[in-house]
Amino acid sequence: MKYFAIIKKYLEFTLNSSIINMKKIIVSIIVISTVILFSAVNFDEKDTQVWNGESDLFEVLHAFGEPNPKHKNDFSSEQVRMGKEIVYEGRTKKTNGKLSKRVSKYYECTTCHNQVQEDPDLRFSNPDTRLSFVKKKGIPFLQGTTFKGIVNRESWYNDDYIRKYGEEAIGKAHNSLREAIQLCAIECSQGRPMKDWELDAVTAYYWSIDFKLQDLSLTESDYQKLNAFQKTGNNKEAITWLKSFYLQKSPAHFFDAPPSKWDGYKGFEGDINRGKDIYELSCLHCHQPDGVSHYVLENDILSFKDIKRTMFKNSHFSLYQIIPYGTYAIPGHRPYMPHYPLERMSKQQVEDLRSYIEYRTKNKI
Ligand code: HEC
Ligand code: HEC
Repeated sequence: MKYFAIIKKYLEFTLNSSIINMKKIIVSIIVISTVILFSAVNFDEKDTQVWNGESDLFEVLHAFGEPNPKHKNDFSSEQVRMGKEIVYEGRTKKTNGKLSKRVSKYYECTTCHNQVQEDPDLRFSNPDTRLSFVKKKGIPFLQGTTFKGIVNRESWYNDDYIRKYGEEAIGKAHNSLREAIQLCAIECSQGRPMKDWELDAVTAYYWSIDFKLQDLSLTESDYQKLNAFQKTGNNKEAITWLKSFYLQKSPAHFFDAPPSKWDGYKGFEGDINRGKDIYELSCLHCHQPDGVSHYVLENDILSFKDIKRTMFKNSHFSLYQIIPYGTYAIPGHRPYMPHYPLERMSKQQVEDLRSYIEYRTKNKI
């Protein structure tokens, strides 16, 4: 409005003066058009932003009216550093220069969770497409979901994690990222409860790997649509539309061993090449020498024979049981193997792995 006030004042001044000559009129036109032009540019900048690939997904949603989640806060880069070290190394150098106590004696968070995008299309949690994607990236194929974009999720420990373990065991972790971190530190990592400053640090680190718009694979016309939403003021629709590009949770459905281990999962033909990828990107990640497990597997015939030995037996260690059920931490021996929900390993992939193991017990490479 202040621009119109300037024009008004100027006109008043011009008209009030006794002589109106050509020169004055020309100057007036120039002044008025400059002011209008300037105000138009300025208004544009004030009212709308141009979002691009670098924009934080959450900032964009927030600009459309999405409320802050409980885990949103102003964190320092020092907190990000400490959180990252806790996740990668299990402990960190505190601000007083001292090393913190390890969260878990047995694992780092990276034993079970990737830190970068692991699904080619964020709208689907699909282990079949994930396998070739992680292989290309040179990252492992794991039971826990990636921390990339975890702050953009709206619930944690979903579906069968609640149904099988019960509301009580999952507790507040379903609706709180902070509680989910705590639950995993104690249960999945077989560690100690984390202190408040550690939970803050990990959350700070999580915000440093939140989704950017570029992670959603928006097209040029999607960006135009997004920027146009700001003009229409259709905020609710904008939020719903943006959220259709990624999952707001990691789905998790458990599965059972097949009724006959000999027959395996019916209807799936194993593929040895994919089986090799699963063996190397998943099993060896923990079972290679120096891995987190005492049960050492290598790329040799002895290892494959050992897996095959139990494969068809009614044993907790059969491939057909260890994948869907995992193992449990027993007192005196805390490291255990987390099971794979269907979204982390498909029945097709179990058959792929079986084929590869059978192949390797018979063939030297
Ligand atoms: C031994 C394996 C293992 C380790 C070590 C581990 N996690 Fe997990 N974590 C899991 C599994 C399995 C899940 C459930 C599946 C999933 O990610 O949704 C999970 C889930 C989570 C979730 C909820 C994810 C979601 O979207 O539902 C958070 C948060 C989490 N872990 C944080 C941590 C942190 C922080 C650490 C390190 C201190 C850690 N985890 C270490 C296996 C592990
Ligand atoms: C996140 C780490 C992790 C991954 C990935 C993993 N395991 Fe394990 N596994 C363990 C741990 C820990 C144990 C518990 C045994 C121990 O270390 O004492 C275990 C136990 C086992 C056992 C029982 C061994 C015994 O005799 O005690 C078998 C068999 C096994 N795993 C096979 C596999 C196969 C096959 C894969 C790939 C599909 C796999 N594991 C992937 C961590 C893992």
